[in-house]
Amino acid sequence: MKLFPGLFFVSCLALLGIRIVRAGSVTKLGSICTVHPSADGVSDDAPAIRQAFDLCGRDGIIKFDPATFHVESVLQTTGLRNVIIDLPGKFLWGTNITYWRANGLPLGYINMTTAWMFGGDNILFQGHGVGTFDGNGQLWYDFTQGVSNLPGRPISFMIRNTNNSRFTGLRFVQSQFWTMAIKNSEDVLLDSIYINSTSSSSAPARNTDGVDTFFSNRITFRKWTVTGGDDNISLKANSTNILIQDSVFHGGLGVAIGSIGQYSGLYERIENVTAERVVCLGTRYAAYIKTWTGIQQGFPPNGGGGGFGYARNITFRDFTLTNLTNSVAHITQCTSFSGATGGCDTSLFQISDITWGPMTGNVATGTLASMRCSGSAPCPNITFVDFDKIATAGSRKISCSNVRPIFTKSRREYNSSKDFQSSP
Ligand SMILES: *[C@@H]1O[C@H](CO)[C@@H](O)[C@H](O)[C@H]1NC(C)=O
Ligand SMILES: *[C@@H]1O[C@H](CO)[C@@H](O)[C@H](O)[C@H]1NC(C)=O
Ligand SMILES: *[C@@H]1O[C@H](CO)[C@@H](O)[C@H](O)[C@H]1NC(C)=O
Ligand SMILES: *[C@@H]1O[C@H](CO)[C@@H](O)[C@H](O)[C@H]1NC(C)=O
Ligand SMILES: *[C@@H]1O[C@H](CO)[C@@H](O)[C@H](O)[C@H]1NC(C)=O
Ligand SMILES: *[C@@H]1O[C@H](CO)[C@@H](O)[C@H](O)[C@H]1NC(C)=O
Ligand SMILES: *[C@@H]1O[C@H](CO)[C@@H](O)[C@H](O)[C@H]1NC(C)=O
Ligand SMILES: *[C@@H]1O[C@H](CO)[C@@H](O)[C@H](O)[C@H]1NC(C)=O
Ligand SMILES: *[C@@H]1O[C@H](CO)[C@@H](O)[C@H](O)[C@H]1NC(C)=O
Ligand SMILES: *[C@@H]1O[C@H](CO)[C@@H](O)[C@H](O)[C@H]1NC(C)=O
Ligand SMILES: *[C@@H]1O[C@H](CO)[C@@H](O)[C@H](O)[C@H]1NC(C)=O
Repeated sequence: MKLFPGLFFVSCLALLGIRIVRAGSVTKLGSICTVHPSADGVSDDAPAIRQAFDLCGRDGIIKFDPATFHVESVLQTTGLRNVIIDLPGKFLWGTNITYWRANGLPLGYINMTTAWMFGGDNILFQGHGVGTFDGNGQLWYDFTQGVSNLPGRPISFMIRNTNNSRFTGLRFVQSQFWTMAIKNSEDVLLDSIYINSTSSSSAPARNTDGVDTFFSNRITFRKWTVTGGDDNISLKANSTNILIQDSVFHGGLGVAIGSIGQYSGLYERIENVTAERVVCLGTRYAAYIKTWTGIQQGFPPNGGGGGFGYARNITFRDFTLTNLTNSVAHITQCTSFSGATGGCDTSLFQISDITWGPMTGNVATGTLASMRCSGSAPCPNITFVDFDKIATAGSRKISCSNVRPIFTKSRREYNSSKDFQSSP
């Protein structure tokens, strides 16, 4: 067994009878690193976490003690390879808002930052249903007071340049901002994931999306439970071959495609998405699609528009709906700078081949669908399957503009989708 410098130094001091606060530490046995939290239970454990990833992040195993680890500084653990990470305890992020706003690592697309940049190949990150990321988010909800996309408010966990990997049994509570972002990744499975960002004050847990994807292919989300203040799972620029299965969404907006088309002149696409066996409890929609208008107003993250590209072949089926607060299906191409209206017919972003249904359950309103496609790029091939099985409060309104044609069908035969990868 090797002792690493921090621990060794402290042990020597201890032998000399000098009492100091022991920082988080790592013991390495063969290729297995075990991470211990600081003895005082408050000091920054991030240096020990970094050390464990440096020592065992390639062809190794990183085990955390079943304890709370305080993360007071940003983490960048990238270039990992063939590693198993075992988290039976909890990461708790620090409360120095000034520090986090100044030091987040860039998402590298939209002007946002993360508190932990993570990536590599052939990674298994397992939490056994208890391993927890606690973003100490209440502090951020109170500080932000509902302001959208406050600069420097960090995404909890960003998975970047990651292939052939699996994240399983992890819990994310009180995220600072979006819980996760996945970017430039392929063949990643995230299963048995619990997310809950709930504000206990009058300030909303705004922008606490479950996960946002960018430039990623063959990503599977299975068995997610999401409670939060915004989109649950949101697929953005160049997300392809995405599968969402067996998940439960409490409140929030439901499955989101977009916003997309935010960057003037950029071409982006979303293609081949299936979401199946999803339970929506009091969400605003079952699933919806939103693009920016064709006219740029302001700059991202809160402004933008004028992007183009397409979203196609997207299927939402076998949803169970309870008390949706708006409608089952929704499309808007009117997203613009906060407060700006109009321009709904200007987007060139093309939406087509979208299927909602079969679905069962109820909407608490009289609207089944509201779809506002752009006059400059009307939406062909919108299909509702078995909407007659969905109960409403009275009328069964379907409103649409620039949608042609709409098909309504009864149940079609299909088999459950398989995921794309053989993950570790
Ligand atoms: C918070 O972080 C800022 C910027 O890094 C630093 O100057 C300040 O001393 C920190 N405050 C506390 C209480 O640690
Ligand atoms: C992931 O796969 C892509 C394309 O298949 C490749 O370009 C990239 O280098 C891979 N990244 C890692 C971290 O293995
Ligand atoms: C980008 O974010 C930084 C802080 O993270 C902020 O200072 C800057 O104004 C932002 N830029 C834009 C264009 O929003
Ligand atoms: C989410 O967290 C809140 C408060 O922390 C709790 O009351 C609620 O039951 C949780 N929701 C779910 C679905 O776990
Ligand atoms: C999921 O949607 C529900 C309903 O709006 C919302 O309460 C919850 O906050 C969303 N979860 C996340 C993580 O956005
Ligand atoms: C998205 O993918 C398409 C097709 O590969 C590519 O042409 C486009 O440049 C990508 N968009 C961005 C913003 O990288
Ligand atoms: C649509 O996407 C699904 C996966 O979500 C795929 O199985 C199917 O082949 C695609 N259809 C077309 C026409 O591309
Ligand atoms: C979508 O799925 C079809 C059928 O499997 C495939 O041919 C096409 O390449 C996929 N599109 C993307 C962007 O992967
Ligand atoms: C749905 O709304 C109805 C009417 O308000 C209410 O009686 C019922 O308990 C709600 N169901 C759930 C699961 O919240
Ligand atoms: C509409 O769907 C049909 C059948 O899937 C397909 O043949 C046709 O190309 C689609 N049209 C457009 C404009 O996407
Ligand atoms: C479903 O799978 C079964 C067994 O593999 C196959 O016989 C059947 O044709 C499939 N049905 C569809 C609609 O793909």
